[in-house]
Amino acid sequence: MKKILITGGAGYIGSHTALELWNAGMEPIIIDDLSNTQENVIDRLEEITGKRFSFYKGDCNSRELLDQIAADHQIEGVIHFAAFKAVGESTQKPLKYYRNNIGSLLVLLDWMRDHGIQDVVFSSSCTVYGQPEVLPVTEATPRQEAESPYGNTKKICEDILVDFVKSKAGVRVISLRYFNPVGAHSSAKIGELPLGVPQNLVPFITQTAAGIREKLTVFGNDYDTPDGSCVRDYIHVMDLADAHVKALSFLGKQELDFYEVFNVGSGRGNTVLEVIHAFEKVSGQKLNYVIGPRRPGDVVKTWADTTKINQVLGWYPQYSLEDSMRDSWNWQKSLG
Ligand SMILES: NC(=O)c1ccc[n+]([C@@H]2O[C@H](COP(=O)([O-])OP(=O)(O)OC[C@H]3O[C@@H](n4cnc5c(N)ncnc54)[C@H](O)[C@@H]3O)[C@@H](O)[C@H]2O)c1
Repeated sequence: MKKILITGGAGYIGSHTALELWNAGMEPIIIDDLSNTQENVIDRLEEITGKRFSFYKGDCNSRELLDQIAADHQIEGVIHFAAFKAVGESTQKPLKYYRNNIGSLLVLLDWMRDHGIQDVVFSSSCTVYGQPEVLPVTEATPRQEAESPYGNTKKICEDILVDFVKSKAGVRVISLRYFNPVGAHSSAKIGELPLGVPQNLVPFITQTAAGIREKLTVFGNDYDTPDGSCVRDYIHVMDLADAHVKALSFLGKQELDFYEVFNVGSGRGNTVLEVIHAFEKVSGQKLNYVIGPRRPGDVVKTWADTTKINQVLGWYPQYSLEDSMRDSWNWQKSLG
């Protein structure tokens, strides 16, 4: 069984990807410092799969720990999720974000080269596009100046990967630019675990419905969009997990010194109000929300053109927005 190192594998997207790798016949080896998740995610993965995944609790900036993992396992590929991702905090503590998000990639690439590990899939983000002038967004859409240190770390990491491949380091790399991951595994045993006040719409919706938040504020309903609220591309986390499996399989068939980037989204734009209504429909709950003023810095509308990932990786999303809302709600209810 091919062993794949998943950095940040106990986190939201990492844990679902660990599951999909296992379902595809690969063995995930997880490293996570638990800075934004809980150790019981590993227990939950065992409950779902019947397999206890190897788990290393620690920082993937630690070369010693990575060397230990390479001594314990013959790693054949890496998916690098580990990063800090709170956009707001990144503007307050930029060095924390640059150190972790960029530092960990540098340590990882050195380690891969020294151990002859060739394949890596990197978690990038649609944030690199900012507010695109032309929609939908293709991979050829120019990247814009980052709006936050977090967004900048994604741009810089992509550039580091391009330069590393150009240097003939003997690796194959895919950067996946995620749009808005939502949903949870249908078992409701794993899902997103936001610390504190959620920064993303869907956890805020489910926490409001659960009575943890008093109300949801929709930031603006007078934009140039179908109902005036902002438009995003929501992608179910299991579809996103599947994209990683397909990316790894594809990488294994390429020549060395390969780099490619793919958008991962549903290919549809949904407004904030549409998401709220989809949630109300599947949950049978009336959501307490109010319309507030526009929020400075918000991207008004963005959604992905997914032609490239459809055609090259043969990846197509399987889940609808309603599926995402149902699974997110079941996950929220399971948290009690
Ligand atoms: N969720 C999103 O909306 C979104 C969108 C685009 C891109 N991304 C990127 O996808 C990746 C995964 O995101 P997520 O939503 O699963 O976040 P997450 O916080 O749930 O997962 C990241 C995991 O990495 C761990 N981690 C952080 N730094 C670490 C370190 N130095 N060593 C070991 N573990 C470390 C955290 O404990 C966490 O479990 C991140 O790189 C993020 O920037 C996320």
